[in-house]
Amino acid sequence: MDLKTEYFDDGSSFYPIDPLMLNPEYLEEFAIFERYPKKDNLYRFRCLIMDFDSTPIETVIKLLKSWKVVYIHKKHLTSYEAHIKENLGYILMLDKLETKKKTKVFTQVSTNVIKDVFDSHYNDSVISPKAIEKVEKLVSQVIDFISDSNSLECLAELIGHDYNTHVHSIKVGWILAAFINANKDLFKASYDLDLKSLLIKATVAGFMHDIGKIKIPENILNKRGKLDNLEYITVQSHTSYSLSLLFESGLPKFAMQAILYHHESEDGSGYPCGLKGDQIPLIAKAIHIIDVFEALTAERPYKKAKTPFEALRIMMGENPQVEVLNKFEQEARQNKKAPIEAIVRNERDVKIQRLKERMMLEEEAKKRVEVRLKLRDRGMAHCFDKELMKRFIITINESKSFNLSELI
Ligand SMILES: [Fe+2]
Repeated sequence: MDLKTEYFDDGSSFYPIDPLMLNPEYLEEFAIFERYPKKDNLYRFRCLIMDFDSTPIETVIKLLKSWKVVYIHKKHLTSYEAHIKENLGYILMLDKLETKKKTKVFTQVSTNVIKDVFDSHYNDSVISPKAIEKVEKLVSQVIDFISDSNSLECLAELIGHDYNTHVHSIKVGWILAAFINANKDLFKASYDLDLKSLLIKATVAGFMHDIGKIKIPENILNKRGKLDNLEYITVQSHTSYSLSLLFESGLPKFAMQAILYHHESEDGSGYPCGLKGDQIPLIAKAIHIIDVFEALTAERPYKKAKTPFEALRIMMGENPQVEVLNKFEQEARQNKKAPIEAIVRNERDVKIQRLKERMMLEEEAKKRVEVRLKLRDRGMAHCFDKELMKRFIITINESKSFNLSELI
């Protein structure tokens, strides 16, 4: 790709990078620039190295060490991203790079990888073993870093920020890896696998737990208001879709079970099978905890993020109206309060009278869901394994970024 050696630009065509992230052994595809102060609203960008092939590696190493920040042209962004992806293991081993930056890098790379898997399978009925191998390769590069003592520091970095399905999925995966790693005794006792294989496969399950959402209509997934009953049931089908999509992916049975059962609740009020207590596999229970925790602590367009303390207090809280809450959940699933013909769009809907009826029923359904969510926020302890929940709070607390001592 042809680039000039000098640009005058407002900064929007360039991307700042930490030179530490560049592995001098494998730099071929992009040029790097330095930025001069703004003059007449434009920066001057001067090329530092245009051709890595013809620059001696010692010179490259020396130069990279001497800069705090360098810039790449956005035309080279894809090459830069490929470089980071290929050299992720190298970057995570760098002593000088702060954990914060490392976490940002592997979060970004994994988000791209997972987004790619999600986006490229909208029209497919199965996800190939090849796609899963790619995800496993990524996880293998990061898992040694997660396994070392810094993982709790990176755990703190993963919590909060904006919500979207891909970022949510990778956060659930990485938080799960850090959680399993900090509670090796518990997980090793439940699964007959060496820790590294367990960590890798479980993390992939964490990444893929919501893949079935690609089969849910977007207008339902992205609906800003509350879901009505039929929409709610449709969303719940994502667990079965995940299983079906991954059926031939080569993922082991325990990972598939963890994905299928990640919405099962301790008291049997979850879905898709209404399993309870020991019937629910440990990793499915862990994904459920992390999934809810991550969703509560993330910012959404229609709700403010809760702090880890607030989220965990809700998750730990005994709900005084758990029976009413479960009745609501049941009604929603059985669709008692919103008959199907009132919601499905068909030609009768054009008749004003029917439309009015439907709107009234939808309104009622919305209100019921609102009440249900409000009720849920009064306490969710019945959904989770108490012991595992305690371990989770202790793990988060050990990251020393949040004061959770009151909850332990
Ligand atoms: Fe889910």
